[in-house]
Amino acid sequence: MRGNGVSFSVQWARVYNAADFMCALSDPSEGIAEAKPPWRVASDPQIQAAPPPRQLALKATLSAASDQPMNAFLSSLLLTLSLNGLAQAADSPVGDPVAGQAKTAVCGACHGPDGNSLVPIFPKLASQGERYLLKQLHDIKDGKRVVLEMTGQLNPLTDQDLADIAAYYAGQKGSVGTADPDLVALGEALFRGGKLDQGMPACIGCHSPNGAGIATAGFPHLSGQPAEYIKKQLTAFRKGDRINDGDTLVMRTIAAKLNDKDIEALAAYIQGLH
Ligand code: HEC
Ligand code: HEC
Repeated sequence: MRGNGVSFSVQWARVYNAADFMCALSDPSEGIAEAKPPWRVASDPQIQAAPPPRQLALKATLSAASDQPMNAFLSSLLLTLSLNGLAQAADSPVGDPVAGQAKTAVCGACHGPDGNSLVPIFPKLASQGERYLLKQLHDIKDGKRVVLEMTGQLNPLTDQDLADIAAYYAGQKGSVGTADPDLVALGEALFRGGKLDQGMPACIGCHSPNGAGIATAGFPHLSGQPAEYIKKQLTAFRKGDRINDGDTLVMRTIAAKLNDKDIEALAAYIQGLH
């Protein structure tokens, strides 16, 4: 384990937008009143690229925020997830995106040639975080995450192949879908505010306000992912059919607090989020 207090705070200072994080921890209505909504419906003009995350130190923010039980829960969860991640990163091969592209011919049939799947049950891989992709590839190969459609496909691939493939998809530009306008309000309230009364943290704390995730921490990019795929994942976490979210059970704990309507709304919101 290489993680210690210093690398933890350096890591987060690099990746985290402390202002957004505070938004996740404080009043859920804060931050909603933005000039431009972060989701897209069918009638919207062309999407603009999201700005890069601002560079701010998070350590002070975390300790300042930890006087509320909810915040302490989220902070410790984030700390655990981040330290786990740092420990795993030590001995992985470095991915080569050019070599990776040549290894994805068979994947394109379902995930799209550049990782932008056009079929709503197949997840988009383009612009997904490299680290999250690599973890999923290992989990699927090892059977920790069951994907029947991919049975046997990863068996001939080495650790280097998987790293190359993850690097390739992470560098592709992801497409965005559109949100169902009838479900956007509930989806946004849950995504940005969580369910504070039930101790369920807001999604933005880990997946960021625009759904880009936090690549270096392995928190997946969600924005633009087809609603049907998101719905399937949240339902699978809730039922315990998907169990590769680690010892913290982070997504299983969160999904347990979501009813069918919540899942429907979150999935619709995420599909149009950017
Ligand atoms: C026959 C269709 C099919 C093919 C071919 C296929 N996949 Fe998949 N893949 C899927 C499905 C379906 C899922 C999602 C399963 C679920 O609902 O959990 C998935 C999930 C994934 C995920 C997890 C995505 C996420 O957001 O968690 C990764 C990564 C992935 N596939 C990579 C690959 C790679 C790399 C290849 C080629 C070596 C490949 N897949 C070939 C159907 C396919
Ligand atoms: C404390 C951090 C945290 C919070 C808060 C959180 N997530 Fe997650 N989420 C994760 C992590 C970590 C994973 C990846 C698990 C794995 O490695 O398979 C994940 C995975 C997911 C996935 C699967 C992505 C894919 O491509 O298959 C979905 C969907 C998701 N989260 C939705 C949500 C929603 C919706 C909320 C709010 C209701 C939420 N998450 C809140 C950490 C979090």
